[in-house]
Amino acid sequence: MKSVINILDLSVEELQKLIDTANDIIKNPTKYSEICKGKKLATLFFEPSTRTRLSFEAAMYELGGNVLSMSDAGTSSAAKGESVADTAKVISCYADIIAMRHPKEGAPLVAAMNADIPVINAGDGGHNHPTQTLADLLTIYREKGGFDNLTVGFCGDLKFGRTVHSLIEALSRYKNIKFVLISPEELKLPSYIKKDIIQKNNFEYLQTTDLQSVMPELDILYMTRVQRERFFNEADYLRLKDSYILTPEKLQNAKKDLSILHPLPRVNEISVAIDKDERACYFKQVLYGKYMRMALILMLLEVL
Ligand code: NCD
Repeated sequence: MKSVINILDLSVEELQKLIDTANDIIKNPTKYSEICKGKKLATLFFEPSTRTRLSFEAAMYELGGNVLSMSDAGTSSAAKGESVADTAKVISCYADIIAMRHPKEGAPLVAAMNADIPVINAGDGGHNHPTQTLADLLTIYREKGGFDNLTVGFCGDLKFGRTVHSLIEALSRYKNIKFVLISPEELKLPSYIKKDIIQKNNFEYLQTTDLQSVMPELDILYMTRVQRERFFNEADYLRLKDSYILTPEKLQNAKKDLSILHPLPRVNEISVAIDKDERACYFKQVLYGKYMRMALILMLLEVL
């Protein structure tokens, strides 16, 4: 029984299998519409979410399975003081697989160590978000045909943005990626990721505060919101929140085939005027996330 807590829990071959399965689901949805009949997914969300929880639930319904949903930690036994370990043991009696989001880094790992069923990390604090990375990978794959030789810009809150951390880890498995890290000084990528992932694997990288100067180089631009809920004080958030606002003018010197990704929710870091630009991929990315979650559920339930 396998859980996915970190994107590195999946090998490159498994990632490719997920991409191939998701592409097949897109082509032949009816082939999969009953495949999880009788199976139950429990979504345990101890932190706000729209897309990720509903995406997991839509994924399970489209596979013909059922969903048990806990979306408000305030109404669960966690409010009475139940540990994550106990919750995981209890839910193992009801469901076949768990998707868990938690504000504390490491909580889904604790759940996985105690559950008798696979656990998927649906975001743990400022740490990791592997299933968003699956959505990102399918988007890049479908836009660019692969992952090697890309220059990928990450812009915004690289310190607290867990989707950034997981995507950098995932891309470090491929060849000749150049990482361009664009953020305010205070929101730079944590040094453990820079050292252990980027430098250790000898990837070329550039750190800058200036998006405009690097724009012409980028094949992918991964925008992120400043993660308000992880700040210790509101004044810092207010000072940093509008550090980068992508507008059509700022894309004037960008590549014609740039792909603009964003894990969403968007606050105001991408102007809505960009939504019409064919380089904007963020709404497709949402849809791809559902297909990749379907593929992941199938893999972890060993249905395929
Ligand atoms: C992201 C998250 O929860 O980390 N959202 C998502 O799941 N798509 C990004 C964010 O909240 O900024």
